[in-house]
Amino acid sequence: MQTLFENIAQLVQVRPVETKLLRGEQMNSLPVIENAFLLIDDGIIRDFGPMGEKPAIRPDRRIDASGRLLLPAWTDSHTHTVFPGSRYTEFMDKIRGLSYEEIAARGGGILQSAKRLNQTSEDELLEDALARVHEMMRYGTGALEIKSGYGLSVEGELKMLRVVKRLKKLLPIPVKATFLGAHAVPQGMQREDYVRIIVDEMLPEVARHHLADYVDVFCEKGYFTPDDTARILDAAARFGLRPKLHVNQFTSCGCLQTAVRYGALSVDHLEEMRPEDFAALSGGQTIATALPGCSFFLGIPYAPVKKMIEHNIPVALATDFNPGSAPSFNMNFMVALACIKARLTPEQAINAATLNAAAALELSGEMGSIARGKKARLILTRPLNHYGEIPYYFATNPVEELFV
Ligand code: NIG
Ligand code: FE
Repeated sequence: MQTLFENIAQLVQVRPVETKLLRGEQMNSLPVIENAFLLIDDGIIRDFGPMGEKPAIRPDRRIDASGRLLLPAWTDSHTHTVFPGSRYTEFMDKIRGLSYEEIAARGGGILQSAKRLNQTSEDELLEDALARVHEMMRYGTGALEIKSGYGLSVEGELKMLRVVKRLKKLLPIPVKATFLGAHAVPQGMQREDYVRIIVDEMLPEVARHHLADYVDVFCEKGYFTPDDTARILDAAARFGLRPKLHVNQFTSCGCLQTAVRYGALSVDHLEEMRPEDFAALSGGQTIATALPGCSFFLGIPYAPVKKMIEHNIPVALATDFNPGSAPSFNMNFMVALACIKARLTPEQAINAATLNAAAALELSGEMGSIARGKKARLILTRPLNHYGEIPYYFATNPVEELFV
C-alpha cells in the first residue's frame, strides 16, 4: 500500500536517520522542506523531497496537502492514562485555594485515586483508557508511555499494568509501560514497609509477567526519599528495568542526582532546579522532560527549559496526563505553553515534543523525525502556513488527520 502526499506547504523535522537526540544548539533549528512530497510504503517513509523531484509512480492513495503541514506525530513520554473516574471535587478545592500538597494531606490526591482504582474492574479501566488514547490520537499523539501507581497494592499495581499490556495489543501506536509502585505510601502503612513490598513482592511479579518497560519513583518530600529511590532502582536493575523518574516537582532534594547515578533515561517535572541540578544533567544522556500542563493546572513554576538548553541538556515535553495535577492530553497545548510560559522558540518546543520525546521512550530510531526508513507516524495539519502557528493558535487542535 502506497500513499503519496503532494504539495505539502512545509514538511517539518527532516533529519538524517542517525540523529536520535538533540541538545543545546541543535535544538534551535527545525529543518523544513517547502512545497514537498512524501511517499509512505507499507507504513514506512520511503521517499520525500521538493515537489520538483517527485517520482513518477501510481500510488494507491494520493493526498493533496496544499496549504498544510506534515510533521512527525507527537510522542507523549509521561502519562498516567489508566485511572478511575476523575478528581473533579479536588478541582473545586483547588479553585478555593488549596494546594496540591494540602489536598493530598486531606486524604485526596493519589490516595483517592488508589481507593477507587482498587474498586474498579480491569475491563472498566481498560475501556476508559482506550477511549482516552483514541482521543489523544485525534490531537496528534503517535506514541505514549503509561504509568501504574494508582494501585499501591500488589494486586492493584499488577491490574494497572495488565491494562497497559492489553492497550499495547489493542492500539495502533507504540505504548510503553512504567511501573510506578512508589507513587505514594498507602494509608496506614510505614514508608519503609511499603518500599519493602515494592522491592520484594511487586517488582518480581512485574518482571515475571513482563509487565513493565521502565521503573519510576515519585522522589519528593512527603513521598519517597533518594535512599528509597536507590533501593527500588537497585532491585529494578536486577530485572533490567531502566528508570524514568518524577523528580524536583516541589523540591530539589537530591533525587535528580540519584536518577543520573542510576543512568535514568529521563528525569521528569524539574520545576525546581538548583545550580547543581543543571550541572548534573549538563552534557549527559539523561533527558530532561518538562510537563508544562502540570505547572499550568497547579499554578507552580514552569521547568526552566530555556536555561536547560543553554546548559546543553536534551529537553523533551510531555503532558503528565493524570486526574490530579494535569488532566489534559493535548500535546499541541504543551508545545504552546513551553513557548508562551517557558520562552522556548517554536523550533525548540517542536524538537522537544517530537524527536527528543521519542528518545525519552527509546523510540527515536523509528519515529520523531522525517527520515527514510522510519515508521510513518505523521500529523497532517489543517490549513496552516508555518509550524510556528501550532503554538500560536494555542489550545486549538491543528491536527486534521493522524497517520500511524
Ligand atoms: O506527575 N507527582 C506525582 N504524580 C502525578 C500526579 C498524580 C496525581 O495527582 O494523581 C504528577 O504530577
Ligand atoms: Fe507524572
